[in-house]
Amino acid sequence: LNFHANKERRYILDVLFNGLRRLEYRGYDSAGIAIDSSLSPNCPTSSPSPPLVFRQAGNIESLVNSVNEEITKTDLNLRQEFYFHAGIAHTRWATHGEPAPRNSHPQSSGPGDDFLVVHNGVITNYEVLKETLVRHGFTFESDTDTEVIPKLAKFVFDKANEEGEQTVSFCEVVFEVMRHLEGAYALIFKSWRYPNELIACKRGSPLLLGVKELDQDKSNTHVFKDAHFLSKNDHPKEFFLSSDPHALVEHTKKVLVIEDEEVVHLKDGGVDILKFERRNGSSRPASVERALSVLEMEVEQINKGKYDHYMQKEIHEQPESLTTTMRGRLIRGGSRKPKTVLLGGLKDHLKTIRRSRRIVFIGCGTSYNAALASRPILEELSGIPVSMEIASDLWDRQGPIYREDTAVFVSQSGETADTLLALDYARENGALCVGITNTVGSSIARKTDCGVHINAGAEIGVASTKAYTSQIVVMVMLALAIGSDTISSQTRREAIIDGLLDLPNKIREVLKLDEEMKDLAQLLIEEQSLLVFGRGYNYATALEGALKVKEVSLMHSEGILAGEMKHGPLALVDENLPIAVIATRDACFSKQQSVIQQLHARKGRLIVMCSKGDAASVSSSGSCRAIEVPQVEDCLQPVVNIVPLQLLAYHLTVLRGHNVDQPRNLAKSVTTQ
Ligand code: G6P
Repeated sequence: LNFHANKERRYILDVLFNGLRRLEYRGYDSAGIAIDSSLSPNCPTSSPSPPLVFRQAGNIESLVNSVNEEITKTDLNLRQEFYFHAGIAHTRWATHGEPAPRNSHPQSSGPGDDFLVVHNGVITNYEVLKETLVRHGFTFESDTDTEVIPKLAKFVFDKANEEGEQTVSFCEVVFEVMRHLEGAYALIFKSWRYPNELIACKRGSPLLLGVKELDQDKSNTHVFKDAHFLSKNDHPKEFFLSSDPHALVEHTKKVLVIEDEEVVHLKDGGVDILKFERRNGSSRPASVERALSVLEMEVEQINKGKYDHYMQKEIHEQPESLTTTMRGRLIRGGSRKPKTVLLGGLKDHLKTIRRSRRIVFIGCGTSYNAALASRPILEELSGIPVSMEIASDLWDRQGPIYREDTAVFVSQSGETADTLLALDYARENGALCVGITNTVGSSIARKTDCGVHINAGAEIGVASTKAYTSQIVVMVMLALAIGSDTISSQTRREAIIDGLLDLPNKIREVLKLDEEMKDLAQLLIEEQSLLVFGRGYNYATALEGALKVKEVSLMHSEGILAGEMKHGPLALVDENLPIAVIATRDACFSKQQSVIQQLHARKGRLIVMCSKGDAASVSSSGSCRAIEVPQVEDCLQPVVNIVPLQLLAYHLTVLRGHNVDQPRNLAKSVTTQ
């Protein structure tokens, strides 16, 4: 947060704390904040002095409480007004070093806090830098990779000012630091040696600048095409830097997506965007001209509304999110014209995709599962072989990717580091790269040749729910768009499109199982483990259902391909272990019936998900608990079938007393490798 206007310290703290609360879903094991002190440069009679820095392990509220305690103890004046101010805050998801105050950000250059840095990403060469800095007398206090950054800044600063006079500019210090850093980062630097200034830069990790004019254009809708607007200092403004739009949207919708190797220099309520230069030149680097864009996000989207948890809200809003995903993309066709699909972001590349030798789906976690659910329909409609790659595994193996391949990157956030790395790799190998993301302007959206936004709206719960179903729907539409519209395929295609149009209604119907799933959760509350068996279209449902249960309710759960049951998992079956079997009607139904019989024969404790009207038949060979769901077109069945499992995971978590929206050790968007 940087501004020039008269604002009280209370306001500054509230803006920074609220920003952290908005980002808490991204990291919640520790947090920290740095604001200007009373004897700040805002007071012309005093000389600049070190800022106030607070760091705390635990969630944002622990930080807020410890700051409030400190304020009471030290009698800090919350009414004190600042004409200029530069404040930074951070919420952390630990990569290097346990969650503890000393490992929280802002990380410091040492005694006196000359330079403070918040960092999102990983510095890969921090050990070498640390050794060098230790040799120059620096003492390290944290286990983080980040700590080398402020210390390096201090080293550069001291070296440049050896003569005694402060000759080096803040930008020069940061440029020199960037020259030494390897890895991925979005950084914000604060230094009381450079009052009222903040510098941010990025390479690989996301960074946004939000601009709010304080006395005009309250509508917040205007797009400024003229970048010079940004450097004029004529209206009081507030600037916000964040790795995520959620922290900005309540202040402004005018944003600039910062590109790799750009440096944002905020000073006295004005801004300059500079291009990083690897070589050390004597003149100031050139400013970059950029236009602001408008965030397509509403504040209501990031509130819980009438729900207790984000995950619950997001499960229940799937009829609406799916409607938005399909809006304008399914063309009903005239009396003679067949129904069809229009995906604007792909239209110039469809021919190339159809000619590809192979389509490779690449993603992590839930996004990978969504791609897996869509694989059979894409193979069926396009006739092109489809292979599946977990992003990190593709990179680990340096698996073959060819110019003739179409690589489809699926990512809710569009920022997952593993997926991004695989994207760079596929680009280097010349594949056509398609992005399927939920985040307009995200790195994956920008780095791919073409793509489709899933438009599911903000997803805050760490466990992905509505993004999963929207991803599948987009990939079914992708299969329809790529597949040729031959006469023989028309009936099938139309059935799928009709099924898509009716899907929100079917999801409304399946959501009525909420109480039943709560009841089932009650029965399973003390269990240690849950197996989920699926096959065909619903192998992905088994994997995703198990992932939901394990990530939020912290109960061990495993998704198993039912065709593999005889090759190992059968050994686990007894009358105690709960096993969910997905056996809705499709081409695999009879095989699943025989799986159920084999499990019944071994007295397995079964929960069977079946199509409406099949409850009696699935329990005919032994007792089981049946969950009936509406039957839809086979390729859309995974969208329906996952919903009861999402509800089960949700209720299990609440009943077991765990944190639903911020599960232990997990982060929503994993921007580090
Ligand atoms: C993390 C999240 C998962 C998510 C995965 C991929 O592990 O906790 O919910 O599925 O990252 O994220 P992406 O944003 O690429 O879909």
